[in-house]
Amino acid sequence: MAETVRLDKVFSNLGILSRSECKKQAKKGFITVNGEVVKETERKVNPDSDIITYMDEVLYTKKYVYYMLNKPAGYITANDDRFSETVFDLVMDKRTDLSAVGRLDKDTTGILLLTNDGDLNHRLLSPKNHVEKTYDVLIDGALTENDVRKLEKGIDIGDEKPTLPAKVEILSETNPQNVRLIITEGRFHQVKRMFDALDKPVLSLHRSMFGPLKLDPELEEGTYRELTEDEMKSIMQAAKREDY
Ligand code: URA
Repeated sequence: MAETVRLDKVFSNLGILSRSECKKQAKKGFITVNGEVVKETERKVNPDSDIITYMDEVLYTKKYVYYMLNKPAGYITANDDRFSETVFDLVMDKRTDLSAVGRLDKDTTGILLLTNDGDLNHRLLSPKNHVEKTYDVLIDGALTENDVRKLEKGIDIGDEKPTLPAKVEILSETNPQNVRLIITEGRFHQVKRMFDALDKPVLSLHRSMFGPLKLDPELEEGTYRELTEDEMKSIMQAAKREDY
């Protein structure tokens, strides 16, 4: 938890208002802390837990943020794109150091983590940590026992090395087009290339889990929320961040 700091310092640190401007704006009643209008800018606040607004806009004051986004199709995972909307267009927090943890293709839906904690991001993507990614896949064709064995063993997708062993589950006996695939790598278009190698192309792809984190069923497509304390603990554990 961050220490408490003066309200005017929060504004000046974020480059929004100088301390004297902050004083004037507070006098006019434009600043609230946890819903209460605050006119004294010497007031100590906790940037990690207090909700501060300026002219009805919430300020993002935390040093590190950890968001779960339910990515809809049609958005690309990139900081900026000239032609398409990006996942960051869905987020109100406009801090410039926010990054996605890995990427989902434009047509892929599901859980995507966003954070400005570069160390965590790096650890979650590091092949050393074997963080599992769970995909629910609809394929064009029926997965056979032989296909399952190939995916479980590791499959040649045209790279130098075959993929690492995956876990595979056919989600419905009556519909072997619906498959759950769990992989620990994150190669470019990996899932699509794995099924292409079986000649059963992916028709739709949804990521339901990232490491230990399940996509929150309450989170509507295109919306996001901060990770809960329990989720934070489990993701830090998956990333082998012992300091947390
Ligand atoms: N594998 C893919 O092919 N696409 C994704 O979006 C994620 C994993």
